[in-house]
Amino acid sequence: MQQSRQAVSGADGHRKGCFVLSGKIVIVGGRPLRGELPVYGAKNSVLPILAAAVLTSGASVIKNCPALSDVGASLNILKYLGCGVTFADRTVTVNADAACGGPIPDGLMREMRSSIIFLGALLGRFGSAELSAPGGCEIGLRPIDLHLDALREMGARIEESHGRILCSCPRGLRGAELSLSFPSVGATENILLAACAAEGTTRIYNAAKEPEIEDLAAFLIKAGADITGAGSAEIVIRGGKPLTGCEHTVIPDRIAAGSYLAAGAITGGSVTVVGAEAKHLRTVLPIFRAAGCEVTELARGIRIEAPERLTAVKYIRTMPYPGFPTDLQAPLCACLCTAKGTSIIRETIFENRYKHIAALTRLGADISLESGCAVIRGVDSLTGADVEAEDLRGGFALLLAALAAEGRTTVRHTAHIERGYENVCAVLQAAGAQIAKE
Ligand code: UD1
Repeated sequence: MQQSRQAVSGADGHRKGCFVLSGKIVIVGGRPLRGELPVYGAKNSVLPILAAAVLTSGASVIKNCPALSDVGASLNILKYLGCGVTFADRTVTVNADAACGGPIPDGLMREMRSSIIFLGALLGRFGSAELSAPGGCEIGLRPIDLHLDALREMGARIEESHGRILCSCPRGLRGAELSLSFPSVGATENILLAACAAEGTTRIYNAAKEPEIEDLAAFLIKAGADITGAGSAEIVIRGGKPLTGCEHTVIPDRIAAGSYLAAGAITGGSVTVVGAEAKHLRTVLPIFRAAGCEVTELARGIRIEAPERLTAVKYIRTMPYPGFPTDLQAPLCACLCTAKGTSIIRETIFENRYKHIAALTRLGADISLESGCAVIRGVDSLTGADVEAEDLRGGFALLLAALAAEGRTTVRHTAHIERGYENVCAVLQAAGAQIAKE
């Protein structure tokens, strides 16, 4: 979906100079990775589940939470709203009993890309919400027209002014029949949250089917919500049920898992990604196999054994789940830089998600953008260089290329990477990588 039907205004210029431009990692490449790399709870599940906790009374205990800066940013928003929050040993407890509404300051919203997910929860709990529009970001426009249109259908009044969104529902939220023109993950999540608090039944047609949607629904169902069909294209929510805090263990992060499998693949290594769920990677594992890797599904994770040199993969196209995930496009792009032959990748979800290509080229990759596709002509070897991460997954792709490159690579602006990979240096070091934060 290259163009939004209506882009929400919002400034992005002030991201320059903010925390994501900090951090530096130095890698000396050329060592095959061996050993075990752990994955924890999915970032893209935890963030909406933390927002959902605002709708519950009493304490919710959320287990397998990764220690990521995006999780920290969500917890800061919850604390600002007056929730009791603790985070220790990958377990978050949230008690929203004393929470009160009110505008969420711009600074808190901008610490995390997905903070728009608080919209549905706040409307549901307080009947009003005020927060900043996401505006553009490193991977392209992040429009929210589908979120806002759906909430309007449910009775919300929404004004947009100076990059802020002001929502209220003077007569309360009511269930609605909603057809999404695209199966947006964020819109499906916001609707789920608002619909739990709405009077009556909400049906979402063409809903997103990502495992993280099912996980959010699983949390809400445990809390008392009446939801059927999550994980399919049609979700039914019978709203108005009281929600009480519950205990939930977040599903493993399929994107971190795919990224660490890529680290094994690009270095010609053999690693086990412990905690990975193969059933969430059904369109990803065949790509590694096509590239010449042996991939074994184990009870405790996924093992990959890579050949010395990967083989090119004819064509990868990013698609909504269960298609190949946009979040693994950049990591796979890095893997294929040194594969034998030419690979083609087409990004269909975010128009601007090719920023890693320029940096990969500096490491010696031969990639061109042709008619919206990345054409990757595999080179014999990559060489270390000084590069900058432009976004989370693109940043990880640079670490991958650096692990395979001859010599020393410095990756700057690595705070992007810490948004989605817990202790990335320590994890890769334990598998034999020469990598350190500076
Ligand atoms: C997207 C990914 C998700 C990934 C996340 C983080 C898809 C379908 N979604 O979720 O898997 O984990 O990024 O990288 O792959 N759009 C609109 N209007 C809207 C909402 C979205 O036009 O109101 C468009 C977007 O511009 C984009 C597409 O729909 O082209 C996908 O958006 P959406 O699924 O909502 O994005 P995220 O929730 O961020």
